[in-house]
Amino acid sequence: MKHFISIKDLTVEEIYQLLKMAKMYREDDYKITKQIFVANLFFEPSTRTKTSFIVAERKLGLEDLEFATQTSSMKKGETLYDTVKTFEAVGADCLVIRHEHDEWSKSISKDLQIPIINAGSGKKDHPTQSLLDIDTIYQEFGSFKDLKVAIAGDVKHSRVARSNAQLLTKLGVKVYFTAAEDFKETEMGYPYITMDEAVEMCDVLMLLRIQHERHDEFSSSTINYLEDFGLTKEREKNMKEGAIILHPGPVNRGVEIDPDLVECKRSRISKQIENGVYTRMAVLTKQLLEWDIIKESQIRKSPSQITQTKKHKAN
Ligand code: NCD
Repeated sequence: MKHFISIKDLTVEEIYQLLKMAKMYREDDYKITKQIFVANLFFEPSTRTKTSFIVAERKLGLEDLEFATQTSSMKKGETLYDTVKTFEAVGADCLVIRHEHDEWSKSISKDLQIPIINAGSGKKDHPTQSLLDIDTIYQEFGSFKDLKVAIAGDVKHSRVARSNAQLLTKLGVKVYFTAAEDFKETEMGYPYITMDEAVEMCDVLMLLRIQHERHDEFSSSTINYLEDFGLTKEREKNMKEGAIILHPGPVNRGVEIDPDLVECKRSRISKQIENGVYTRMAVLTKQLLEWDIIKESQIRKSPSQITQTKKHKAN
């Protein structure tokens, strides 16, 4: 039984199974028929990830447990370990956790009898984000064959860059990085290209926000950032036919992307958010099944859907 911590732990087969399950949830309404509690423990700010986990849980008929750091006992000095053990003791069946430390899962994962889903760990991993990103790419192109993806921006401090590079590589996609000198990460060994090269070569341009909260060095490269390293209107014109723009959000309009391009024809930024709900439903189901918390037979097409299908057939 595995926790859902890093893309590195997933096989290619598991990745395609998750995409298949996300598609199933997108197309039909399913519910888990057993009472299940999921705690969403977010120790870092979040809009999209947290809300889409809550929507994913509610769509599946799971009960989400509220947690706010400001009003929790962490304010009284309780540790992450004691907080998660409390949720386990109170009856949570699964924990969704986001925390600023790269390795937070190492300190708690061995001592828990319930699955953890990583909703973001420091600069290191963001596996559900990269799953929703590849789900969006798969919907667009129908395959990963011969695709070229450029991941552009603050690569050095981005968990989205790391998880996506790992996942896309597993799927045989050619990955390039593009970044200002201060935001380059060289340990991963991916080739760097310029933004001008990226727009001309790539099928997918994945933009990243500068992770100001993860570094306080002043970078001179941020002065003319959009013109020097971002997606300007001129650069967008040079993108390949059919090429798309992704961004995990939150977007800093006018920094990594021209404000007018956020909702342009090539942008799939809203689609990514929508897909996040279904991929997270898939991840939650995978964890609950793998840990024997639910059985396949407890995942049921919702009664209204069955009636609708029957009516449809009768017509
Ligand atoms: C990203 C994150 O938190 O890592 N956002 C997200 O989960 N949608 C990216 C970011 O904060 O820049």
